[in-house]
Amino acid sequence: MCGIIGYIGVKPANEVIFDGLTKLEYRGYDSAGIAVVDNGRIHCRKDIGKLRNIRKLLLDEFQSESTIGIGHTRWATHGRPSAFNAHPHGDCHTSLMVAHNGIIENFMALRRQLIEEGHKFVSETDSEVLAHLIEKYYNGDLKKAVLEATKKVEGAYAIAVIHKDHPEEIICARKEAPLLVGLGNGENFVASDVTAILQYTRKVIYLENFEAAVVKRDTVEFFSLESGENIVKESTTVDWNPVAAEKGGFSHFMLKEIFEQPQVIRNTIGGRTSEEEGKIYLEELGLTGPDIFRAQRIVMVACGTAFYAGCVGKYLIEDLVRIPVECDLASEFRYRSPLVDGNTLVIAISQSGETADTLAAVREAKSRGAKVLGIVNAKESSLTREVDGLVYIHAGPEIGVASTKAYIAMLTALTLLALMLGKIRSVISSDFVKEKIRELKVLPQQIEKVLEQKDKIKEIAANYLNYKSFLFLGRGFNYPTALEGALKLKEISYIHAEGYAAGEMKHGPIALIDSEMPVMAIVTQSDLYDKTISNLKEVQARAGKLMAIATEGDTQIRHLTDQVIEVPKVSDIFSPIINVVPLQLFAYFVADLRGLDVDQPRNLAKSVTVE
Ligand code: AGP
Repeated sequence: MCGIIGYIGVKPANEVIFDGLTKLEYRGYDSAGIAVVDNGRIHCRKDIGKLRNIRKLLLDEFQSESTIGIGHTRWATHGRPSAFNAHPHGDCHTSLMVAHNGIIENFMALRRQLIEEGHKFVSETDSEVLAHLIEKYYNGDLKKAVLEATKKVEGAYAIAVIHKDHPEEIICARKEAPLLVGLGNGENFVASDVTAILQYTRKVIYLENFEAAVVKRDTVEFFSLESGENIVKESTTVDWNPVAAEKGGFSHFMLKEIFEQPQVIRNTIGGRTSEEEGKIYLEELGLTGPDIFRAQRIVMVACGTAFYAGCVGKYLIEDLVRIPVECDLASEFRYRSPLVDGNTLVIAISQSGETADTLAAVREAKSRGAKVLGIVNAKESSLTREVDGLVYIHAGPEIGVASTKAYIAMLTALTLLALMLGKIRSVISSDFVKEKIRELKVLPQQIEKVLEQKDKIKEIAANYLNYKSFLFLGRGFNYPTALEGALKLKEISYIHAEGYAAGEMKHGPIALIDSEMPVMAIVTQSDLYDKTISNLKEVQARAGKLMAIATEGDTQIRHLTDQVIEVPKVSDIFSPIINVVPLQLFAYFVADLRGLDVDQPRNLAKSVTVE
């Protein structure tokens, strides 16, 4: 997720843009840049680093008073954080510049074709393709060139485009990534979200998918990217305060990030699947075939939520790849002189890539000859520089301390990895992979159906604010889901909660059950359903308070409880992704209704960089 902004008016563009970028840094902050149209030429400055570290370049020493320009603050997806990968990106002759938020899924094919046609690329990004495509179709009409170029693009984009020969207009366009136009007096704005321009105007027009605009100082003309026809749009007045705006109108970053999860899955998948071939492409995997075939066992090392993602990874890889997988808490692994060697593949999972225990575990594994694969969110984090191979999860910056969208992105990345390894080792067929790719692409809409139940989940949560302890129960793929659901509740509501394998109840925990010990059961349809139901009957018989996550249309569970949150039916391997969403919302509402600081819970840090 990145932030883009454009300005055309009477003020020095770079000042307005720099200020707007500072408000968009929560969307990405590994590099930034500004480009303006200045007397028939493009003036562009960009570099790696947070805005405060490149302020001189973009502001104090910018050397242009131009009043039209675009800017970008980046969260790297394709192409590591660097000056040459920073946006805006130009065409071959720096006649035009593009700032882009999103993922161009067919960028490799477009890049190859444009290079064959003589275009010279200077970055590793997918976004640069847009600049060369617009250049290819430009013949004096910038709007038309953008229209033609976007027709060739698959994937998500929100773009702002300037050209040295068009000092009177910015062209912007949107598909699957947010973009709006801000309306001022004698000045107009383009932005990823309203935070960037609130201090200048509250009058905005939101673009929908396949909509674009020609933004001038005194006029804005909207048009369809599909027909090219002009369209009439209504403006709205935003009454958010700046802080609320950064949360996109949500009360907390955590809730905003829970609701971002459908798009996050699309971003994690973005460009990595070929349904027609039944193949998965993990371009930065960095492990060779022999590395993969030599592995006789896999060890997952991580902490907290990332550890529970690894536990789901165990079920995925043992099911689809048939290699034994162990899950180890990094803080334990690092001190146990672990039994790993050249035949072990260690998979280290970390959102921040800076967790001290996980970094230490990686060093320990490497010192014993193991190959290490990182599943990471933060590009260029310490972990990414210490592993042999990488799978980025593309979750975008996660601000809430309680991890939600990064967890879902980890699960999605682990599913892609398991499908890829299972195919390479001929455990699963191309047809099976094609089917799972199809199901994976439907998941975002299915999660949206769960998110629509937020009010019902809030009502259920309101009944459980004053209990002292909870049990979360699950089986199979959803045993780790129970562990993660318990962690979410305890880390933000400060109520004790424990995740347990449902089959373990009779080996002790059932002694805990009474009217003061609520139970959250994950009992979606699977071949373990009947066994889990019989565990729940034991709970019910002891006056336990029971809530359940169940498959849409399940009537049997209703005999045990009326507090049921229904989720769409998915294959077992995708159940951890869809089933964790109601648990995230349940934890969020219990904590919020208890009046606690959901985004920054007591005693916790977003990244535990110390032991
Ligand atoms: C999860 O909600 C917590 N914030 C915490 O358990 C976190 O998952 C853990 O500290 C690992 O962080 P990492 O993914 O950045 O390594």
